Amino acid sequence: MKNIGCTSFLLASLLLALLPSSTARDTITPTTPLSGDQTLVSSAKLFALGFFTPAGTSNTYLGIWYNNIKTQTIVWVANRDSPVAGNSTDAILSISRNGALIITDRSTNLPVWSSQTTSSLATPLAQLLDNGNFVVRNVASGDNDFAWQSFDHPTDTLIPGMKIGVNFDTHINRTVTAWKSDTDPSSSSYIAAMDTNGDPQLYFWSGLKKIWRSGPWDGLHFSGVPETTTYIQFNLSFSFINTKNEVSYSFNTQNSSIVTRLLLNQSGHVQRAIWLWDTERWNFFWQVPGDQCDNYAACGPYGVCDPNMSPVCECVQGFMPRNPTNWALMEGKDGCRRKTTLDCRNGTDGFVRVSGAKVPDTAQAVVDFSLGLDGCKTRCLMNCSCTAYALANLNSGSGCLMWVADLVDMRLYTIGGQDVYVRVAAADLGKHSV
Ligand SMILES: *[C@@H]1O[C@H](CO)[C@@H](O)[C@H](O)[C@H]1NC(C)=O
Ligand SMILES: *[C@@H]1O[C@H](CO)[C@@H](O)[C@H](O)[C@H]1NC(C)=O
Ligand SMILES: *[C@@H]1O[C@H](CO)[C@@H](O)[C@H](O)[C@H]1NC(C)=O
Ligand SMILES: *[C@@H]1O[C@H](CO)[C@@H](O)[C@H](O)[C@H]1NC(C)=O
Ligand SMILES: *[C@@H]1O[C@H](CO)[C@@H](O)[C@H](O)[C@H]1NC(C)=O
Ligand SMILES: *[C@@H]1O[C@H](CO)[C@@H](O)[C@H](O)[C@H]1NC(C)=O
Ligand SMILES: *[C@@H]1O[C@H](CO)[C@@H](O)[C@H](O)[C@H]1NC(C)=O
Repeated sequence: MKNIGCTSFLLASLLLALLPSSTARDTITPTTPLSGDQTLVSSAKLFALGFFTPAGTSNTYLGIWYNNIKTQTIVWVANRDSPVAGNSTDAILSISRNGALIITDRSTNLPVWSSQTTSSLATPLAQLLDNGNFVVRNVASGDNDFAWQSFDHPTDTLIPGMKIGVNFDTHINRTVTAWKSDTDPSSSSYIAAMDTNGDPQLYFWSGLKKIWRSGPWDGLHFSGVPETTTYIQFNLSFSFINTKNEVSYSFNTQNSSIVTRLLLNQSGHVQRAIWLWDTERWNFFWQVPGDQCDNYAACGPYGVCDPNMSPVCECVQGFMPRNPTNWALMEGKDGCRRKTTLDCRNGTDGFVRVSGAKVPDTAQAVVDFSLGLDGCKTRCLMNCSCTAYALANLNSGSGCLMWVADLVDMRLYTIGGQDVYVRVAAADLGKHSV
């Protein structure tokens, strides 16, 4: 962290004293910092930025919240792990002459947080935009030319236009980390992040333990969130970028009166909320993990979790429980093993179809968007390491997903889901085989 120049700090403090305290502005400059009792308000008054002190604490944070929503809902926190000790009177946000944002504890005159801006700006400006992005740029520079932006550093919330994922050019990995508690925004061990191995998917972690997996993007939605298509009724659109430069997910609304957010909450759930203007409350209408089949690898390798069955775990046809004792006691996480060894060289293996499924973990899957389903089957049969195949893109009806590892974290859906073709030996091919 860089130390703020003493003279510029004094100058800033002096100027601050001259500012009226309730000015609604959306920018700060080196000569117009933001004191603890002031807020920035975006131009169409959709978002506000300022200091807040969680109830019952004496820690102060810089945050962004919805300007029009009465129950203050914080969507971003700058200094979540380095609060100002004291109330907002003790805090000040300034921007240095080269464009670094700095939060200073006025009681000690020491900086507690700074944005790690690498480029040096001639005439820096920090601005709160109407999409809730707090950006640093040169006064004269273009609309999307930011030296720093809060959207690159999500806290626990994604709002429209924010991305979760990796940019390989800028080496930015945008992840989401839950607050520790309602009154403590510091980083907990719940993290949601993009995994770019195999066919990319989002994982949701508790420390080193995987809790939930979105499944890969199938052209319409994540394989593990088949209900996404129903959100079309409030004009929510989704973007999944998967190129050599970037892998990211984001969502958007066409209508700024539709206020929706994704939140990784303190008890380890991802929730989607939408604001109900008439009753003035958040409607949490979606969450994961939802049922027990959402828990990562609930039924182990080659197990399939069906929430409508009891027990919920079953083995793919041609497989049997690895641990029959525990299996009988409703504990499925040991999964299943083959009844008959594969016989790849003779070319007698076939496939059984699992329908309405969330595809297995794709971290060790290979994707070939040039193949169709038939080509995919041929490719899988020819490769003795291939354990299953499926369609990669449901929207275009093409693309080949091929697994070269054990199949884990498969579940069934009542509505939605897709076909997964699992390789089994000829002896285990039954009426569902293809
Ligand atoms: C902040 O704390 C000081 C004393 O610690 C107190 O005098 C002041 O009223 C408080 N300000 C606010 C905004 O709570
Ligand atoms: C991004 O961060 C997540 C969570 O820390 C990590 O699992 C993942 O490997 C990272 N991705 C890259 C490309 O660094
Ligand atoms: C969704 O978009 C359509 C067409 O653009 C519009 O007529 C409709 O009012 C929108 N619905 C909402 C809830 O904004
Ligand atoms: C935006 O949504 C509001 C509330 O649902 C609706 O009344 C309005 O017509 C929508 N505007 C557009 C442009 O779709
Ligand atoms: C987190 O989300 C889950 C699922 O919606 C909910 O049951 C739980 O109460 C939430 N926790 C908090 C702290 O809001
Ligand atoms: C596969 O080939 C081996 C060696 O040629 C033979 O012993 C075996 O019986 C064949 N298995 C099947 C199922 O045809
Ligand atoms: C099978 O496919 C995997 C993944 O594409 C590849 O790494 C492996 O070399 C292939 N094996 C054979 C024998 O072609």
